Amino acid sequence: MALPGEVESRLYRALRAASGAAAHAAALGFPAAVALPARPGSSLFSWHPLLMALAFSFLLTEALLVFSPESSPLRSFSRKVKVRVHWALQLLALLCALLGLGIISYNKHLNGKAHFVTWHGLTGLLTVLYTCMQCLGGVVLLYPKLVKNWTLAKLKLYHATSGLVGYLLGCTSLMLGMCSLWFTTSVTGVSWYLLMLCPILTSLVIMNQVSNAYLYRKRSQH
Ligand code: HEM
Repeated sequence: MALPGEVESRLYRALRAASGAAAHAAALGFPAAVALPARPGSSLFSWHPLLMALAFSFLLTEALLVFSPESSPLRSFSRKVKVRVHWALQLLALLCALLGLGIISYNKHLNGKAHFVTWHGLTGLLTVLYTCMQCLGGVVLLYPKLVKNWTLAKLKLYHATSGLVGYLLGCTSLMLGMCSLWFTTSVTGVSWYLLMLCPILTSLVIMNQVSNAYLYRKRSQH
């Protein structure tokens, strides 16, 4: 039996609002949960998982959810305000990521361990480099006159698409970090699976948001 159009669209909106709320909870819950086994301050290493979880789960997800039509905490604010909050959160995420990378590299150097030898280490390095490039791309979008040959609409589309790739790369690094020996011995059983679900859930919500806002719309305009 087909649902009437209005009921269907209301149901769809309610589902999107619920998944947005779950994404906020997962984005904040993940760093809080990582802080428990890491015990920040107990060692130099302890700051790495916390800073990275803050950067790539909390700050990055919130920087993108700011633009969500259903679940943005700034829904009633102007686009200009949302853009400002977006780049401020993005900048904070970059600072946390650079600090987290510096700390883990220095800690490895102190312990005489080889650098970038695991899948997590390699993907993590790529993620931080990609985040730097994405932020530079964001500066171009703030000052579009810097590039003369591309229209603002094209720049926005490229920024959103490559931002989505960067976000998924960040989630992959988080998940590979959760496969590390340190994490799998600190967090076991159902808790480990629940934490794995956090970046999966936020990725699905963000992918849906960006595709709806840019990719489908832009394609149907041509
Ligand atoms: C997107 C977020 C993350 C990024 C970009 C990242 C990046 C990195 C990088 C580049 C290294 C290797 C450093 C070197 O070899 O000098 C590393 C190591 C490590 N990270 Fe992360 N990390 C992230 C999140 C996490 C999380 C959430 C955890 C724990 C749950 C974690 C646990 C570890 C551990 C145990 C190591 C040492 C072992 C190894 O090199 O694989 N990381 N991380």
